[in-house]
Amino acid sequence: CGIIGYISYLVEKDRKTIIDTLLNGLARLEYRGYDSAGLAIDGDKKNEVFAFKEVGKVAKLRQLIAESDIDLTKVFDSHVGIAHTRWATHGQPSKLNCHPHRSDPKWEFAVVHNGIITNYKELKLLLESKGFKFETETDTECIAKLCKYIYDQHPDIDFTVLAKSVIKELQGAFGLLLKSVHYPHECIAARKGSPLVIGVKTQKKMKVDFVDVEYSEDGAPLPAETASQTLALKRTSASLGSGLLSPPDKSLLHRSQSRAFFSDEGQPMPAEFFLSSDASAIVEHTKKVLYLEDDDIAHIHDGALNIHRLNKNEGTSNVRTIQTLELELQEIMKGKFEHFMQKEIFEQPESVVNTMRGRLDVENKTVTLGGLKQYISTIRRCRRLIFIACGTSYHSCMAVRGAFEELVDIPIAVELASDFLDRQAPVFRDDTCVFVSQSGETADSLLALRYCLDRGALTVGIVNVVGSSISLLTHCGVHINAGPEIGVASTKAYTSQFVAMIMFALSLSEDRASKQQRREDIINGLGKVSEQFKHILQLDKPIREMCHKLFKGQKSILLLGRGHQFSTALEGALKIKEISYLHCEAVMSGELKHGVLALVDESLPIIMILTRDNIFSKSLNAYQQVIARGGRPIVICNEGDQEFPNEKTERIEVPKTVDVLQGLLNVIPLQLIAYWLAVEEGLNVDFPRNLAKSVTVE
Ligand code: G6P
Repeated sequence: CGIIGYISYLVEKDRKTIIDTLLNGLARLEYRGYDSAGLAIDGDKKNEVFAFKEVGKVAKLRQLIAESDIDLTKVFDSHVGIAHTRWATHGQPSKLNCHPHRSDPKWEFAVVHNGIITNYKELKLLLESKGFKFETETDTECIAKLCKYIYDQHPDIDFTVLAKSVIKELQGAFGLLLKSVHYPHECIAARKGSPLVIGVKTQKKMKVDFVDVEYSEDGAPLPAETASQTLALKRTSASLGSGLLSPPDKSLLHRSQSRAFFSDEGQPMPAEFFLSSDASAIVEHTKKVLYLEDDDIAHIHDGALNIHRLNKNEGTSNVRTIQTLELELQEIMKGKFEHFMQKEIFEQPESVVNTMRGRLDVENKTVTLGGLKQYISTIRRCRRLIFIACGTSYHSCMAVRGAFEELVDIPIAVELASDFLDRQAPVFRDDTCVFVSQSGETADSLLALRYCLDRGALTVGIVNVVGSSISLLTHCGVHINAGPEIGVASTKAYTSQFVAMIMFALSLSEDRASKQQRREDIINGLGKVSEQFKHILQLDKPIREMCHKLFKGQKSILLLGRGHQFSTALEGALKIKEISYLHCEAVMSGELKHGVLALVDESLPIIMILTRDNIFSKSLNAYQQVIARGGRPIVICNEGDQEFPNEKTERIEVPKTVDVLQGLLNVIPLQLIAYWLAVEEGLNVDFPRNLAKSVTVE
């Protein structure tokens, strides 16, 4: 799912511009979920909210709004709007279940939410017993209704204190935005386990004040010493009462620190705030951002941004530095390509170079991973290296397992995060657990990370998205620097993860004299990967034709590999399933004879990865078994390999490289096959049905 909020203060904007800001943000977030989309904006009168929801993609919501009779020319000098694009978890994709959700038909409180509220059933029951009528099947609705319930009992309550009271009741994971008619021009953003980033745009030069405030027992701020403090906290007072659902308790009022934006004179100044689950929805407006951390509650009002912590005295600072986004707008646009996935496949010659930049020195045969430096000798001494990931990221771990086993003298395990948690697998203080994730937000991986942290293991992140939860929570790590990946089917993140982890293995084996020649060969191989990618990408057209010729009307494909290439087969099969919806099964070639061979006949399409390595002769056995059953496999082999006569096989030829890197090259034709199969079927490559880029639910 994706969230975008837009808050303006003393900046005149007409309604059309405000709506466009939200819709354009949603369109950038669509890759995170695209079942339905909705938004809530200020109405024409005080205490009025306009909300629009539509099933399907953002374009349909845009159309719905264009066809409505709201006055798009109305000008606001301060305004709050929130919007959401959804990937259904609780409840079907429908207009009703679409966000924003409301507390009541008058929209006193509106909320958009990513993540999952695990105790929503209990909250719902309780609120129903208080007379609330639920309209949707979502977990989110209880947040809006809980706001109203607490507000009705404490109408003088400050928005921050209200938000804290509500959030204290929520279990699970969330990134959320709240808007309310009772707090016009104010917005709350809160996160726990689901990312939120806030972009700030001011007309004058921005001044950042850090204010440290103590509250007295009754909740009023102690005498403010600066104008900024007064302004930031002027509304902070709460009347305490006794409600049923833990009324705002005094502890919520203690000690709150905040960061705010004011002009030099201490006066509020015009400002715009862009809140999102993903920086890609913000970058076209501003590059000045701050990332919220878990248990942060940001309160935006009167041009100021204040960050509060949910729990007092928990020792965590809530100073969040303003960062400058390094993202460029063109990185998140398709440019000359038809689809993001296609663009990302073709970006790989550059993205792998970006992964290696400043780290790999081919001339001097050295690898320097700054983010691991401090820990590398501890990792060398660990009892086990456990790689934990999901989906494509899991496959990249499988792909480098052999290289780690060979170069590093430590037992290696590769785990699917969900299964690792299901088994409650033993983890010890002297284990090193490596979390590999493109987004850095995948719920299964994140939960496994917390599990390992709790058990005292050293944790390493191999992550693409800077500032993501996994990169923040791990002790150390490597950013793969592949640039934003938007296509739901991961391509360039896979090859960059692969390269980053090979560099990790090279770093760990630096002190092993017996491995020096091998290390040099691998380093030389890495130095050539980018050029080899460019060469393989020239196969685009022949592969397209091959897809048309060989796979048209097929329902199922087998993909065979062994050794280092089993992971390539797994990844290729996942790509094909994800976007072409064809059943594709990766088979370990050695296992073919133990069962799957029964499926083989003249008509079943079979792709076999048969590049040369030390187990090539064994891989050939599988090839012979297929040929003997009348199969006509498509073979991915090294350039010029005479082993596979043209009349018996279709050939896709790739350059040869060091065996541990061969999978990097072999996966590219499979990415292209998946892509063209989907295009051939007229499917929406970037938005495959039922899938989302970042799965933030268990
Ligand atoms: C989702 C995506 C996959 C991805 C997996 C792990 O299922 O659709 O493409 O491989 O999550 O994501 P991560 O961000 O942790 O690499």
